[in-house]
Amino acid sequence: MKRMLSGIKPTGQLTLGNYIGALRNFVNYQDDYEMIVFIANLHCITEYQDPADLKKNLTDAVALYLACGLDPKRSVIFLQTDVHSHAELGYIMACNTYLGELNRMTQFKDKAQKGEKNMTAGLYTYPCLMAADILLYDANYVPVGEDQKQHVELTRDLAQRFNNKYGETFVVPEPLIAKVGARIMSLSDPSKKMSKSEETNKGCIYLLDDLKDVRKKIMSAVTDSIGIIQLDKENQPGLYNLIEIASALTNKAMEDIVKEFEGQGYGKLKVYVADIVCEEMEKIQKRYHEIIDSRQIENILKEGAQRASAIADPKLETVKKKIGLEIKY
Ligand code: AMP
Ligand code: TRP
Repeated sequence: MKRMLSGIKPTGQLTLGNYIGALRNFVNYQDDYEMIVFIANLHCITEYQDPADLKKNLTDAVALYLACGLDPKRSVIFLQTDVHSHAELGYIMACNTYLGELNRMTQFKDKAQKGEKNMTAGLYTYPCLMAADILLYDANYVPVGEDQKQHVELTRDLAQRFNNKYGETFVVPEPLIAKVGARIMSLSDPSKKMSKSEETNKGCIYLLDDLKDVRKKIMSAVTDSIGIIQLDKENQPGLYNLIEIASALTNKAMEDIVKEFEGQGYGKLKVYVADIVCEEMEKIQKRYHEIIDSRQIENILKEGAQRASAIADPKLETVKKKIGLEIKY
């Protein structure tokens, strides 16, 4: 069975974008792949987080993973800092990455260009840690949203470079981008990604949002004045986004949804989308509360970390031997 790995960085509450672009796919993949999923808590602190908020977001992320259907028996689920090899291989990867490569990473470049102050060294080198996260497990596939593709491509380059320098060591991973729902846009500004870092939260649906608010956000989603239900991403990005959300959650083709609503007003379509989203979220929220109440999270993470370490730690040993860092015989 091929191995698949992904991480989520819960610097805020998880969103519908995270669910459609990442979480939901992981759940489907567990049938066909050996799934390794972790909470990337080290990646969270590349920017300051309030400690109490961070702890709550990490716990909620685990609970939501489980609530969305990730099965700790079939998949390995753990917290990044519980497996020390990540930080250590992250440093080794940083020593095999050129500054030019990191300067080209758009996520970093965008922030630098916007003149963001107090950018940390951790933020700059985080693609190296992400490469370590992936390479420790010889993952074949890395399911990510569009925005993370470049980081997986860097990981491929680093793996190949290492293999050339030190001999075959790492599996070269492939990014896996879902066709529909790879980039859910903000409901209030469909030119931007739906993101937890949005200033107003009108455009972003959080998985733990009150369902009444969810409905309100969808009903007031920005559309256009064209007034025709059709697929025109460029001129009707808001409408396109709503259809994409519905399509992702129902597995219906976007064209079929358009056919169903042809000639009708946007209001009807919005009600349809709101119904679908709320129905899905109601199930997730119910399970989320059951999981939090059952207090099983700590045990699940402990077992996950043991299983992850059993793969990652020997890999790190091999790497250290190849580089010549070990003086054991
Ligand atoms: P982030 O929340 O940005 O750390 O992303 C975690 C995962 O969810 C990554 O695989 C992202 O690509 C994915 N993701 C985040 N926001 C969206 C979105 N609006 N649409 C689709 N996927 C997303
Ligand atoms: N960088 C990813 C994000 O911001 C999270 C992440 C960290 C990740 N390590 C990873 C994703 C390894 C996939 C594989 O969303």
